[in-house]
Amino acid sequence: MNVQNKTEMLEFTERGDDRGHLVICEGGIDIPFDIKRIFYIYGSDSEVVRGQHANRNSEFVLINVAGTSKVRVKDGKGNETVYSLNRPHTGIYLPKMVWKDMYEFSEDSVLLCLASTHYDASEYIRDYDEFVEIMNKEGEQE
Ligand code: TYD
Repeated sequence: MNVQNKTEMLEFTERGDDRGHLVICEGGIDIPFDIKRIFYIYGSDSEVVRGQHANRNSEFVLINVAGTSKVRVKDGKGNETVYSLNRPHTGIYLPKMVWKDMYEFSEDSVLLCLASTHYDASEYIRDYDEFVEIMNKEGEQE
């Protein structure tokens, strides 16, 4: 899989039969990194905005395994895209250094997050102005 460091939707293999559905997400195959951590978010109501950070080192894949939510991704250079997560066999790949907001959680939303790293609070950028400054400095060096 060549994701070229860009946010993109991923479609996972779904094996359904008369017993129900089975979705397969293998690290390094269906997920473009080795999975070091999983966490999941549920019980957030439709008014809540989560995320609101960028990560210096972590890549993520987010999957609404139940219910729905939205993810807004910003590159700090004026571009933003909104993705709807509404199918258990679809995920969004988020590379390092993108700003993400998760919001509009349905009541039954269970948002599964797969991460390429163990948790390290120091790699989180939680100040949007700082993120914009870093991204625009990086742009000057390109
Ligand atoms: P936070 O980053 O605010 O959640 P989100 O961005 O997904 O809305 O995390 C909430 C709290 O949980 C915060 O105190 C940090 C802690 N936390 C961990 O200890 N390990 C983890 O892997 C994550 C994602 C959060």
